[in-house]
Amino acid sequence: MTGAVDGQHGAFAPAAHPMKIDGKPWRTIWLEPDGGSIGVIDQTQLPHQFTTRTLRSCDEAAEAIRTMVVRGAPLIGVTGAYGLMLALQVDPSDAALAAAFEQLNATRPTAVNLRWALERVRDRVAPLPPAERAEAAKAEAAAIAEEDVAMCEAIGEHGLAIVQQLAAARPAERQGQPFHVLTHCNAGWLATVDWGTALAPIYKAHRAGLNIHVWVDETRPRNQGASLTAYELGREGVPHTVIVDNAGGHLMQHGQVDAVIVGTDRTTRRGDVCNKIGTYLKALAAHDNNVPFYVALPASTIDWTIDDGVAEIPIEARSAREVTHIQGRTAAGELAVVQLTPEGSEGFNPAFDVTPARLVTALITERGVAPASEDGLRNLYA
Ligand code: MRU
Repeated sequence: MTGAVDGQHGAFAPAAHPMKIDGKPWRTIWLEPDGGSIGVIDQTQLPHQFTTRTLRSCDEAAEAIRTMVVRGAPLIGVTGAYGLMLALQVDPSDAALAAAFEQLNATRPTAVNLRWALERVRDRVAPLPPAERAEAAKAEAAAIAEEDVAMCEAIGEHGLAIVQQLAAARPAERQGQPFHVLTHCNAGWLATVDWGTALAPIYKAHRAGLNIHVWVDETRPRNQGASLTAYELGREGVPHTVIVDNAGGHLMQHGQVDAVIVGTDRTTRRGDVCNKIGTYLKALAAHDNNVPFYVALPASTIDWTIDDGVAEIPIEARSAREVTHIQGRTAAGELAVVQLTPEGSEGFNPAFDVTPARLVTALITERGVAPASEDGLRNLYA
């Protein structure tokens, strides 16, 4: 079901929720008042239309993840966790639990948060009698969501300290100027439950009164930067400018980027980071121009089973149609999809790339800031 914004949503206390749209607090996902279905913001319609959807079955949850109604590694994980709840409400048997796990886990392959959250719910409910499983899955999914909010806020605090240090260390002639952060894709609150990962330090800095400005990579082909990052920064009143994906290197060469902060969908135990396609090129440009390159992540994004991100992380291949076509709003206010490429030209659409740890200045986690290395991560997560 789809509905326009009209006020109340979700079973949570608005005062506890920092992110607002037109003055109303929102999260990206919530338990509906009926206690048995899930509400989400439909991100495929943003920034032009703000609508919500109600997910009532495991099939609907899987479809919402697959079609990117919800997206962003932490939010995909929470949606998957609630998807298991929805499945168990219908059939709490071992076989149904296993089938729902497989169905949800197959929706998107790269972000490890999905597998992590599904395993967490499955391991919590599997030892229970079937009659108790759906309620236990609901509680576990809610706990994952609440923990995600807390982790993202902590990432924001640790990232704020870095931004403040970097801003203060700028030469005297640059002190009055905005602190310019470049980000890629959307790793804000729309990619999580609240706050965001890469954008959490930016929101914290903005609220602390720091003069901050964000270069927003449009992030072809799905344009999560142009549509989602720009949207949420705008709602928070954070100064920002959307740039084409190829502009970042030029801006860095001309001293227009003080730091890059991005998110990650999977981080290996030695600190390689997999994020939206194009992140690697930004890391190379940052390295060449001595611009610090930070990656913000919660613990749920670390895959301790993997060393070498380039060799081992599965990269989602999405439809070539996302390359050959583009969605936007017409002058008449309608959402429309138009074709960019000539008839007969093929497209290829790897959705993520891997930035090797050596190009990452540091990882900003909920436990603090660590070098992008196995020692760095193990010092935080003993
Ligand atoms: O394909 P998406 O939109 O799910 O990709 C999202 C990203 O790459 C984010 O930057 C990532 O999930 C970082 S976590 C907030």
